[in-house]
Amino acid sequence: MRRHQGWKALLALAGIAAAGPAVTGGTEARQPRQVTFSADVAPILYEHCIACHREGEMGPMPLTSFREARPWARAIRSAVVAMDMPPWGATSDAGVIANDASLTPREISTIVNWVNAGAPEGDSRAMPPLPAVGPRWKMGTPDLVLSMAEPFDIAAEPRSVYGDFPLPTSFAEDKYIRAAEVQPGNRDVTHHANVYVNDESGSHRVASFSPGTGAKSYPPGVAKLLPKGAVLNLDMHYNPKGRATRDPGTAVALQFTNEPVRQIAITAQSGSNAIDIPPGEAHWELAGKPFVFEEDSHILSFTPRMNERGQRFRYHLVYPDGRHTTVLNVYKWRHDWVFTYVMENPIAAPKGSRLETHAVWDNSASNKANPDPTARVKFGPEIMNGYFEYVLSGQNLTGK
Ligand code: HEC
Repeated sequence: MRRHQGWKALLALAGIAAAGPAVTGGTEARQPRQVTFSADVAPILYEHCIACHREGEMGPMPLTSFREARPWARAIRSAVVAMDMPPWGATSDAGVIANDASLTPREISTIVNWVNAGAPEGDSRAMPPLPAVGPRWKMGTPDLVLSMAEPFDIAAEPRSVYGDFPLPTSFAEDKYIRAAEVQPGNRDVTHHANVYVNDESGSHRVASFSPGTGAKSYPPGVAKLLPKGAVLNLDMHYNPKGRATRDPGTAVALQFTNEPVRQIAITAQSGSNAIDIPPGEAHWELAGKPFVFEEDSHILSFTPRMNERGQRFRYHLVYPDGRHTTVLNVYKWRHDWVFTYVMENPIAAPKGSRLETHAVWDNSASNKANPDPTARVKFGPEIMNGYFEYVLSGQNLTGK
């Protein structure tokens, strides 16, 4: 687990660029040893990259060996310096994000130093063993697996193909789940997958898959309620890269709680539909409708959503006394990655606190993801969903 502020990484890099090569730290700092692939870079790639950049996964090229990684050295350097890879782009001032995928400034500088030194292999005997492909379900044994009713043929589009699949649960009673996980049927072309449950209060996300992210699970005693008769909706985003292919069946696994449920995870949001972005506008801002906590609460996680023109998304918690904290700052929005940012320690939101959101869009031609800079963009093509999950601090359903 790692955590850092994006700007700190950049400052660290600027410092390193000025100070010249090889910062190996500690006692070695005065006599820098050459940074090599085998000893220094492979461990970073194995930990942070190969979940996607390995055979059969969705990354465009494997990065499991020197031979595979060497031709990409410069591209790797720019991707990590720009913090485009691994995809993440967020920080919190309210504590550690438990599933933070970003590299530390030190890891970034190791990669930069390696590339600047000519990307040497070093002693191949220093290579760490290639991590085994993980177990089928990261959550452990599921209690229930729901799959798409039939295979889905994916058209040969150059970029995105979307699919929506209902997964009826047919539970005779309310169920509490402690973990949920998505298993793509065709990992090679699955960009991401989301699972929602629809009930009278709206649509709540239950689980998601992007490569590298595992099961979503709740703290002990906390569970998500799946009401009797609930229908899960599986929302798939494929990237078939111009080739017709098929998804033989994406599956969703659930684990039910086997301990008394103390608190129910509640999904809520602060967002807005009042989107109206002029053509070509490079910086358009909007505040979401604030959410007021009517009881002492704890925030578990955040799931912001925007589309292609999104740039930044922030959540601020404003305490009853007026103090405020940026509880999530997505400083680099990428519409094609949807992350749930899970706090290692839930954030206390005392009664009367307000959660406010703030989004920024770029509808200019310099936004490479923008499909049409000449369009006036309203709600629909763009969205602003500031989902989050929280529990009521005083709730105790166990009766103890
Ligand atoms: C969650 C999956 C995932 C992880 C983790 C990940 N990548 Fe990627 N990477 C991708 C995908 C998908 C692309 C294709 C472009 C895109 O969607 O951004 C990509 C593109 C790239 C590219 C650009 C390739 C090109 O065609 O120019 C580089 C370089 C890269 N990744 C390096 C890395 C490195 C280095 C790491 C680890 C530090 C890493 N990636 C971690 C999924 C991932």
